[in-house]
Amino acid sequence: MNLNLVGKNALVCGSSKGIGKAAAIELAELGASITLVSRSSDIMAKNIGELDQSKGQNHDFMIADFSDSEDLKKKIDMLVMEKPIHILINNTGGPPGGPIVDAEPEAFVQAFHNHLICNQILTQSVIAGMKESGYGRIINVISTSVKQPLDGLGVSNTIRGAVANWAKTMANELGPHGITVNNVLPGATETGRLSQIVENKAKKTNQSVDNVALAMKSSVPLKRFALPGEIAAAIAFLASPAAAYINGINLPVDGGRTKSL
Ligand SMILES: NC(=O)c1ccc[n+]([C@@H]2O[C@H](COP(=O)([O-])OP(=O)(O)OC[C@H]3O[C@@H](n4cnc5c(N)ncnc54)[C@H](OP(=O)(O)O)[C@@H]3O)[C@@H](O)[C@H]2O)c1
Repeated sequence: MNLNLVGKNALVCGSSKGIGKAAAIELAELGASITLVSRSSDIMAKNIGELDQSKGQNHDFMIADFSDSEDLKKKIDMLVMEKPIHILINNTGGPPGGPIVDAEPEAFVQAFHNHLICNQILTQSVIAGMKESGYGRIINVISTSVKQPLDGLGVSNTIRGAVANWAKTMANELGPHGITVNNVLPGATETGRLSQIVENKAKKTNQSVDNVALAMKSSVPLKRFALPGEIAAAIAFLASPAAAYINGINLPVDGGRTKSL
């Protein structure tokens, strides 16, 4: 199986921590040169030291705040003038939790902007380089909520659906150029995002954090949370030459938690 990414450049968004950081580590392990993206320059500078460089990879980082899409567009347009991006990992912080009936309308606008609009800006900028170089992989980190809405994540459920349909449409249009577009749907994964969700739930329901975590784990057939590296492995596979014929899919990596096919 060809998993070799030597000579490929990957832009990994939301990679100061969590799933994005794990994806950057995994893609570098397969030989890709990584551009980390987040708002945290100090953390990214430190993360670069954790990325494999044994195959001649060159890693760097781009500071960007997805709530400022004009600035993001300027930065990505400059980056693609320097080098083609062969692998784009669209990923950023999830929208705040809470029941949909209580959500401020503005929260939907902000989430739509930070997730869908930023994906669109990044994708439009990297397409030309992917076409020219004959290699393109776009992988969106979204959520299992595209298959089964999750309780207490109203804004997230809504926006993930939009991103999933955006991605499927992109997959149809970019497929003829050999560019694949796929979604990875993480289940509950041990990152800062999950700790926040567990803590909020514990506060709201007046339970201990341990009890909330235990109840969440018991709803997963594998009876545990995912490690960020386990989501990253799926991302790296989809980014590899071996996954050339996988296009337009939603891949749950959730220990079997989602109750639909
Ligand atoms: N963990 C889970 O259980 C789980 C389950 C399903 C889906 N997901 C989804 O998967 C994605 C990644 O989750 P995670 O658990 O890895 O989250 P995380 O640990 O909170 O990491 C989020 C990453 O996104 C970056 N980010 C956040 N806001 C940003 C902004 N405005 N501009 C630029 N970068 C920003 C953060 O960097 P800085 O803060 O340094 O900028 C960080 O690198 C999220 O969409 C999440 O909702 C997670």
